Amino acid sequence: MYLKGRHLLNSTDFSIDELSSLIHLAEAISENPAYYSESCKGQVMASLFYEPSTRTRLSFDAAMKRLGGTVIGFSDPVISSHSKGESIEDTVRTVECYSDIIVMRHPEPFKPHKLSKLISNPLINAGDGSNQHPTQTLADLFTIYMYKKRLSNLKIGFCGDLKYGRTVHSLIKVMDRYEGNTFTCISPDSLKLPEEIIKDLRSEVIKCNQLEKTMKDLDILYMTRIQKERFPTAQEYENCKGYYILTKEEMKYAKEDAIIMHPLPRVDEIHESVDSDKRAVYFQQARAGMYMRMALILSLLGINKVQYVRPESLWLEPFLDDSRQVLGDRCQVQG
Ligand code: NCD
Repeated sequence: MYLKGRHLLNSTDFSIDELSSLIHLAEAISENPAYYSESCKGQVMASLFYEPSTRTRLSFDAAMKRLGGTVIGFSDPVISSHSKGESIEDTVRTVECYSDIIVMRHPEPFKPHKLSKLISNPLINAGDGSNQHPTQTLADLFTIYMYKKRLSNLKIGFCGDLKYGRTVHSLIKVMDRYEGNTFTCISPDSLKLPEEIIKDLRSEVIKCNQLEKTMKDLDILYMTRIQKERFPTAQEYENCKGYYILTKEEMKYAKEDAIIMHPLPRVDEIHESVDSDKRAVYFQQARAGMYMRMALILSLLGINKVQYVRPESLWLEPFLDDSRQVLGDRCQVQG
């Protein structure tokens, strides 16, 4: 796997082979975390969050610390020199002098993409506005693999705010690369998946606005929160609030082996009574995210503690042989 020194800006930056290797490394780490506990000794990760976050920030923190590395940074730009008028460009250049890898979340779409051009250490996009959330996609892929043992031939329902929800934007583009997947997009009319995303998908896309009707066909139901903070007006949010609430009642229609995913945080879209259903895997998904972020940090830093590829890696059949054409902005291959 040649991820050393690369940035991760879009969910499609990595090839199918690279994704497979990351999943297998995350799996190896989850089976024996102690083996990796000193792997990043002496390495520093900078965590720059210009937008609120609990899971992503803390799971990156936990990931680096579990690898024996240290973390610097801020979770609130008000306490950084931003409030003294420093440009974000200068902050990022300065922070690069102190660290080996930077994780950044920013409310403006494509801001991490622009900033990545200023630095040579790896920069990880931890969410840029409503655009992308590539590391959530990695967590989602590992979760799907854990429960389904494949990433192809799956019927996936995406439900909720498909307009502003960046986790769906990132995940659907990657799942589209695997053979035989179909997507059911369940949303109110005003929160549909943007056309510019749909037009590039090769897989079948079914659009609907009723959850119960589609439940029985799905292998995966990916629920999302209505993204209150991204609505232009409070009234528009009020019109969509509480539109979908998955309850125990609706779970009766779901397949026995379906899984219910959610990137979290949840507001009211999944009733707490669903949590005890064995098909509800969203907290396991959060745990998977931490192991996947450990795998990502190790790989971008080029710390190859193991080359761990299991024979059953054959399950990952790409839709296209795209292993060379989908590298990100910085596609130089380093050993
Ligand atoms: C998601 C995000 O930030 O986009 N959360 C996360 O990182 N797990 C989903 C959300 O905020 O709804």
